[in-house]
Amino acid sequence: MKFFIDTANLNDIAEAEALGILDGVTTNPSLMAKEKISGDKAVLAHYKKICDITDGDVSAEVISTDFEGMKREASELVKIADNIVVKIPMIRDGVKALAWARSQGIKTNCTLVFSAGQAILAAKAGATYVSPFIGRIDDIGWEGMTLIEDIAEIYAIQDFDTEILAASIRSGKHIIQAAKAGADVVTCGLKAFDSLFNHPLTDNGLAKFLADHAKAAQG
Ligand code: E4P
Repeated sequence: MKFFIDTANLNDIAEAEALGILDGVTTNPSLMAKEKISGDKAVLAHYKKICDITDGDVSAEVISTDFEGMKREASELVKIADNIVVKIPMIRDGVKALAWARSQGIKTNCTLVFSAGQAILAAKAGATYVSPFIGRIDDIGWEGMTLIEDIAEIYAIQDFDTEILAASIRSGKHIIQAAKAGADVVTCGLKAFDSLFNHPLTDNGLAKFLADHAKAAQG
């Protein structure tokens, strides 16, 4: 399973990259706005900075909602670096843009996916990644992880190549559940990522090892 970090914050990306297990980055317009990045030039320059930190796939989302606009944006975004993946929303023109991108050899991430039907459309259109939003489904009282299970089952039966990118991941528990449900990729912020490290028995055990080592050194 691949690990992507879900942020446009350069320090967080550098921190995750330094761990040596980062496979990529996902961003969206809200995450870019959170970093106060606005205006076409600044947005493209920020993506370049992200691509300078990591060689992993970097999802850069289009703003256009029409086919021509998405094609235009995708063509600009892929000029930034070889590891740019164009993030395209799951709407009718988005599906057309995904199919066009496949014909151009452009990698894509189909975003805002909330049903197995949408995931089938994304795979048929040749998306490189499909992003089901787990946390947002949980937010409205449904079980988000069931969607990952359903998509994994369908993609296996149908032999689709599209990778399942579990998005809107809010906790370490979500990461583990997504891994069990068959996600190919999990994307989350540093907080959820960091929670995987924590276990009190690790902390206690290490403290005891170090204390015993120090005691033995004293003779
Ligand atoms: C990533 O590709 C998605 O845009 C992101 O995970 C959405 O997460 P959120 O629901 O926490 O905003």
